[in-house]
Amino acid sequence: MSALFEPYTLRSLTIPNRVWMPPMCQYSAAPEGPLTGAPNDWHFQHYGARAAGGTGLIIVEATAVSPEGRISPQDLGIWNDTQVEAFRRITSFLKSQNTVPGVQLGHAGRKASTDQPWKGGSPVGPDAYGWDAVAPSAVPFDEQHPVPAALSVEGIKEVVQQFVDATRRSLDAGFQVIELHGAHGYLIGEFLSPHSNKRTDEYGGSYENRTRFALEVVDAVREVWPEELPLLFRISATDWLDGEEGWTADDTVRFAAELKDHGVDLIDVSTGGNAAGVRIPLGPGYQVPFAARVRNEAGVPAAAVGLITEPEQAEKILANGEADAVLVGRELLRDPSFARHAARELGSESHVPDQYHRSV
Ligand code: FNR
Repeated sequence: MSALFEPYTLRSLTIPNRVWMPPMCQYSAAPEGPLTGAPNDWHFQHYGARAAGGTGLIIVEATAVSPEGRISPQDLGIWNDTQVEAFRRITSFLKSQNTVPGVQLGHAGRKASTDQPWKGGSPVGPDAYGWDAVAPSAVPFDEQHPVPAALSVEGIKEVVQQFVDATRRSLDAGFQVIELHGAHGYLIGEFLSPHSNKRTDEYGGSYENRTRFALEVVDAVREVWPEELPLLFRISATDWLDGEEGWTADDTVRFAAELKDHGVDLIDVSTGGNAAGVRIPLGPGYQVPFAARVRNEAGVPAAAVGLITEPEQAEKILANGEADAVLVGRELLRDPSFARHAARELGSESHVPDQYHRSV
């Protein structure tokens, strides 16, 4: 059997294979009214098709812990019971297809309140359902973004509580995996990096202070998330600032071990998003070496992501011991049945819906 189609157990949860779908915002929820932030038919068919296609774990897109934590007004959120109810339809369908339903919980920080990317993705104001963003420090992401308000310590504690409430709701909604969004320059990642965190209190300055908020969120979430279910953390392994002050791959290796001690079961290793205008050496599997360092230097389970598009390429990443699972993003947008196609190519088997039995 190929490594890609070996089941993977984290805590008491077994994921049927190692072809996973990373969180990908659809920017398609209602921006106002009673259904704000709730998944709808678009999300149901989008996640449902990838489950029917044999994906082992689907991590539902960045889902905001509060209205201000959305990236765009059209983001999903999980701060009320209407949203929970709407998510249940998706999680129960995913389970019916033998796919584990996961959700990425996040807060957009200083990159909040932007337009849908296909409309340009620029910051929006109240006339387009926008709001004022918050951040560790009053430093904007780039010239286009307004200056965010620096969170008070009380404000930080409120956000931690929002993560706790969102965790309880995620469980209620039927999710079996939570991924905390610590990557791409959103709130948790903003605290980690000295590029965006200029605080002089106990949440800024030293490495210990900059990692404090992330660890407080992890600890608080772990307390209410069941012992038998896994907690994932997505990190940007580097800001790609190359010599300038920023978060580095060495920081990531060090932090991964600490996250593990605090109850994180696997690190989803991405990069970038916190510093505007940096050069990123894009290419097939370009972020895999960062996952390999987390896995092999820190000794923490890791998933690799980024331009993984071919079954043989994915298989090699696992066979070489560079990661424990792969996340396939845009290729799964192109081909919802990527996992089933990969299984066939590698001589393995994956879930096939009964209704499609004649297609095998
Ligand atoms: C993303 N990505 C992303 N990442 C994340 O952590 N949370 C999110 O909600 C999103 N949203 C999102 C939307 C869309 C449309 C894309 C294409 C990407 C990043 C994504 O999870 C993944 O890391 C990258 O797409 C790289 O993997 P691929 O696409 O090269 O396989």
